[in-house]
Amino acid sequence: MTILAGKNAIITGAAVGLGRAYAAALAAQGVNVALCDLREEVLQRPTEMQAHGVKSIAWQGDVSQPDDVRKVVDGTLAAFGSIDILVNNAGVWGASVADDPLDKSLADYDRIVGTNLKGEYLFGRAVLPIMIEHAKGGDIVNVATDHMVTCGTPHNVCPNLPTCPWNQPTSSFDGPPRPTGGGNAMDLYDAAKWGLNGLLFAWAQAGKPHNIRVNALCMGATDSHMLRSFHNFKPSPEEEASWMRAEDAAQVLIDLLNEGPTGRTGQNMNFCVGRPVKLEPPLPLRYLEESAL
Ligand SMILES: NC(=O)c1ccc[n+]([C@@H]2O[C@H](COP(=O)([O-])OP(=O)(O)OC[C@H]3O[C@@H](n4cnc5c(N)ncnc54)[C@H](O)[C@@H]3O)[C@@H](O)[C@H]2O)c1
Repeated sequence: MTILAGKNAIITGAAVGLGRAYAAALAAQGVNVALCDLREEVLQRPTEMQAHGVKSIAWQGDVSQPDDVRKVVDGTLAAFGSIDILVNNAGVWGASVADDPLDKSLADYDRIVGTNLKGEYLFGRAVLPIMIEHAKGGDIVNVATDHMVTCGTPHNVCPNLPTCPWNQPTSSFDGPPRPTGGGNAMDLYDAAKWGLNGLLFAWAQAGKPHNIRVNALCMGATDSHMLRSFHNFKPSPEEEASWMRAEDAAQVLIDLLNEGPTGRTGQNMNFCVGRPVKLEPPLPLRYLEESAL
């Protein structure tokens, strides 16, 4: 058990994939976990979580819908009494290109930006005032992606680039070293994830006087339902072998939370395929003045 035992967390998108692993890792630390997801399977997760001796509750809902968000946040408060941790994980990927038909574009916008940006915005907006009022500090962790344009660590300034396997002349990866741009079929996904930087930097500053930290996990390829669907559920053995494991990413989340109120804030943490999945030292702030925090 760590300093996390007895705290209360909300994890969005917790039915499968990374969200389920984040929730399980938190429950194993003694954290009470409130879960939500579009998928009905989320309703089966509290039984798994309760096996760790914690309280757990779940709702089927859509993070892009304000009424659903309110239901989860109010319900968590009623069940647990406070909210110490928000893991804004729910996400959806879909291909979108610059010359898509308008109808498809509008539907994609609502779905991709609605989940990946609006959903995180709604949850943060609902939880931050509660954390401030309760005056116990807290942690908000947004889940972004490793694409250069979203993670805040452009590949040419990444301190790990010299040892990055994607940066070697022998690399078989067809493209620039990772972290990389998402490619031309991800404009909406990347726009939404990049938008998270706006929330990250502003919320980190707003939270600082209240001991509320705000950070982002910029995931690289990690085994999940989403990544498997990206490969039409038929990844090559080589591709699959290169993926990170959700359980390892979840341990990074735990290590980040265990830094406590004096730990880093306003940071993007990059998960690059080929590097050990661990909490690396904080980077110098790139887009915020130290004095702002
Ligand atoms: N796995 C990767 O390689 C990878 C890479 C980069 C970023 N990410 C990010 O990590 C997060 C988790 O992704 P994952 O790989 O576990 O995906 P996943 O598809 O396996 O799981 C995502 C979960 O979010 C839920 N969800 C989607 N839209 C929702 C909505 N509107 N409301 C409520 N729940 C919703 C899904 O039903 C699903 O259970 C996402 O934000 C994703 O963008 C993942």
